Amino acid sequence: MRDRFGCTSVKDGCAPQGQCGCCTVWVDGKPRVACVTAARRVAGRSVTTLEGMDDELRSRFVEAFRDAGASQCGFCTPGILMRLAALDATSKRDAEAVRTGLLAHLCRCTGWQSIVEAGVRALGGRAPARSERDPLLASWRAQVEGPAFQSSGPAAVMGEGGFASDTAPPGALVALHDAAGVAIGADLCSARRALGKVQGRRSGEPLRHPLDPPEGAWALTLQTTWVEPAYLEPDASWCVPGGTPASPLANGGAFGGKRRSSVGTEARAAADERGAPVLALWTREEVVRRGPKRPPVAVALRSDGSGVMRIARPVGSADLAPMRAAVAEAAPGLVIEEVAVPGPPVAPELRAAGWAEATAAMVARRARAAGTVGPGVPVEVLGRAGGRARVVIAADGAIDVAVWAGEVLDETTLRSYCLGAVHQALGLVWSEGIAVGHDGRVQDLTVRSFGILAARDMPEVRVSVHPSDRLPVNGSDAVFAATAAAAWLAEGLPARWPTRRSPR
Ligand code: FES
Ligand code: FES
Repeated sequence: MRDRFGCTSVKDGCAPQGQCGCCTVWVDGKPRVACVTAARRVAGRSVTTLEGMDDELRSRFVEAFRDAGASQCGFCTPGILMRLAALDATSKRDAEAVRTGLLAHLCRCTGWQSIVEAGVRALGGRAPARSERDPLLASWRAQVEGPAFQSSGPAAVMGEGGFASDTAPPGALVALHDAAGVAIGADLCSARRALGKVQGRRSGEPLRHPLDPPEGAWALTLQTTWVEPAYLEPDASWCVPGGTPASPLANGGAFGGKRRSSVGTEARAAADERGAPVLALWTREEVVRRGPKRPPVAVALRSDGSGVMRIARPVGSADLAPMRAAVAEAAPGLVIEEVAVPGPPVAPELRAAGWAEATAAMVARRARAAGTVGPGVPVEVLGRAGGRARVVIAADGAIDVAVWAGEVLDETTLRSYCLGAVHQALGLVWSEGIAVGHDGRVQDLTVRSFGILAARDMPEVRVSVHPSDRLPVNGSDAVFAATAAAAWLAEGLPARWPTRRSPR
């Protein structure tokens, strides 16, 4: 679809795994994931992409998504639009039908709730309409939260956020990177053929917590595992000979996961060697193998707040000094030890890495001392940038979030980031992790292995945004840490995350 017909709305998030839904098209009006649909199976049938959808139907969905803040980076969005717009021709048009349809998809940014609201609204149901939005203010707020440039207009909703895999010059060679090496072809199809079989798999291996807390009588301990940042757009960049590589950060910050990606350098080297423009792409499996993980930690706290945080730092990882500084801010009484363990590289830039865990541990220590462990306990966190959040998880699972982040700029964007932060924090505490063998090799290579919570797994989240006339500051990281702490408290402070592994 992409190579031969130029339909760049059809995204490749995991091909040929068939698990992320980013490549969803219609075959005779029914949604199908293109990456596992052989061309011979659609001979004589009609294939429709977002480009070919009826104008009125497409506009209705695009506007609903834009109004609800249901698209951030926008990489997952065209596939989701195809899935949900197909419901328009059916009698299943309520929130339950939308959540069921979303089971075939992954979105890392939005936390699902705004997508469900937008879907129901576009299908003619009643869901809250959000206010008019100024695109510049929306981008400003996204940049404060991201932190990276992000457009949230109709083009971004259509998947036209400027992804390198879509913007490479026509005729660029394609260099596909995987464990087997790099294969260069005239287009993606020939590069794939040259590379041979790319096998993503889920191992069924148990998650391992690579670090133990030190021996001793501690008031509280916490161990975490290897967590994939799970941005949906695989690393991609293109370059002309002697040129500057296209940024792999097209429309958002990838939660810090691409800050040090080498894909641009690889595009430049291949372009120089071939004397022609080259689009460099990592397969999903390559992203999982080479992309940085959230550093696993082991925390041990005494009742006075002193203690130890051990941080896993495999060979090839980035310098963790920024993470150590963030941990020291959250928990000045912690002695920080880096421990070399076999494993995939880790990076300090991944969303609130270490700081959120240290913050949650300090909140938990105080709650345990006060005898307030359990659901319904309000958790208030002051973010590193000055934003503040209060999160309460009720016994019935509903979550109330209040956020103070200076001048709001665009409430829809801030709310969308808060919903996404809640989703990621719940995933971190409840379900996320990938198996890494004792030899340090990543065992789980499929996007469904990551443990990302599905739309169906998400409780209702109510966000209240509190305006002020102070400069805009990041609020979603405070929401992320407060939610992690509140979720952990609600579970009774078990010593390991994730506390409940999603069956999906
Ligand atoms: S790219 Fe086809 S399902 Fe992920
Ligand atoms: S908007 Fe869904 S993955 Fe970014």
